[in-house]
Amino acid sequence: MKLSALALLSLAAGTQATHEYRAHHAKRQAPGSPNAPVSTITTAASTAHSSNAGPSAVNPSSTTGTGSAATNKPTPTGPPLYPIPPPQGNVPPLSKITSGMPSVATQPVPTTYKPGASAPIEGAPPLPTAFVFRQADWPPQDTIPDTNSPEVQAWMKELDGIDIPNYKPTVDGSCGGDPAAAADAQNRGWWTCGGWTRDTDVTACPDKYTWGVSFDDGPGFYTQQLLSYLDEKDIKATFFVVGSRVIERPNVLIEEYMGGNEISVHTWSHKHLTSLTNEQIVAELGWTRKAIKDVLGVTPTTMRPPFGDIDDRVRAISLAMGMVPVIWTRTPSAGQFDTNDWKVAGGVVTGIDSFNSFQGILGNASIIDTGFIVLQHDLYDITVELATGYTLNAAQTHNPPFTLKPIGQCMSIPSSDMYRESNTNKTFPAKPVSDDAVSGHNAGGGSSSASLNAAATGTLPGLAVLLSFTIVLVQALF
Ligand SMILES: *[C@@H]1O[C@H](CO)[C@@H](O)[C@H](O)[C@H]1NC(C)=O
Ligand SMILES: *[C@@H]1O[C@H](CO)[C@@H](O)[C@H](O)[C@H]1NC(C)=O
Repeated sequence: MKLSALALLSLAAGTQATHEYRAHHAKRQAPGSPNAPVSTITTAASTAHSSNAGPSAVNPSSTTGTGSAATNKPTPTGPPLYPIPPPQGNVPPLSKITSGMPSVATQPVPTTYKPGASAPIEGAPPLPTAFVFRQADWPPQDTIPDTNSPEVQAWMKELDGIDIPNYKPTVDGSCGGDPAAAADAQNRGWWTCGGWTRDTDVTACPDKYTWGVSFDDGPGFYTQQLLSYLDEKDIKATFFVVGSRVIERPNVLIEEYMGGNEISVHTWSHKHLTSLTNEQIVAELGWTRKAIKDVLGVTPTTMRPPFGDIDDRVRAISLAMGMVPVIWTRTPSAGQFDTNDWKVAGGVVTGIDSFNSFQGILGNASIIDTGFIVLQHDLYDITVELATGYTLNAAQTHNPPFTLKPIGQCMSIPSSDMYRESNTNKTFPAKPVSDDAVSGHNAGGGSSSASLNAAATGTLPGLAVLLSFTIVLVQALF
């Protein structure tokens, strides 16, 4: 329990830092971006700049936002931009969904599936022997695993003969923390600083009005509640799971997988991957892959970098290990498809704020030519309630309605190819290539190097907020 609390704290801290740094960086880029909603960006950027301090010291009185201003205090803000829908199921009214709300009871995990049960995937092995956790078998939870272990040393061989770009790890995975790397972001395909992607990345469902549904950071205490809702509505999702959580709640992972959802790798300790050495990246991906394999009998062929923090070095390692990177949608004109649900859990914005920005996502999703992938989380009760009470329903009742699919399915990747054991496609995942053999483009495919980093339209949480987040999480866990 203590260890998972630490993980949450580091996750909170890391997320905080990233978002602040993004705001700094957006200032340099936004003016050159023809599609940028300039007034919003300028406000956000100049506020961030005016503190003239390191990113961890952003002026706590900064206010920015997309109409309903977010402040450093988790207080409700102006009138909602959209009608507040009635909640679905037992979820509280949106106005009550805010940091510090009472936690809902967790649902017990039905242990419906026994070892030997047939897999829901053609060609995949049956469920293996029930997982038994032994500390000696695993690295400590929520820390970067030791790279000298025989396991990591063996996995390092998967990189043999692969051209891994020789970039020094970034300082902390943020643009502000490493200005030299940030200046080279386009060249190294660094998503964090400008949304640079490569053709090998999955970033959006191709079909318009199609939402690739994904939940990160579980399996958590409230994931079962989410799974019950998804079942009831016949929605399947992609779960990007953290290895340290998988070994805590293997039965929840089994419920996800056997229920027809897709399982993908989201690292062992949720660090910024660009800030790690090659060996550490291999360790983070390798241990998570192994945890999933031990519980389910299958090895995902996809992964999502925490915070979206990927560059060509991380990409090449990931592909060399047989995992295709999957990020969430981010375009110069429509911004990032991040529900900001984690900011509600952190007390930075209210449930109403988050739902308003989600309505913005749906609005933007109606404008872009393709479908999209949205970032949500199943780690906190608040984020699960936003999903089950509001966002998923809003998408289904939208006019025209959105089609909700797990990401592999929306990409028309056969479900068997989502796992190594059942994959029949010899060119998937694609072999990693050297960075000068691929053409870079920013998210959205525009040719402008001044890509809009829409995170700047979000909020600039201060240290006080991080502290309150910390307290809330500690309260929730102890
Ligand atoms: C959607 O579009 C609006 C208006 O163009 C913009 O302010 C907002 O940042 C966009 N992105 C999201 C994710 O809402
Ligand atoms: C195999 O994977 C590649 C991408 O690596 C893809 O372009 C191709 O369509 C896939 N083939 C099948 C039959 O799915």
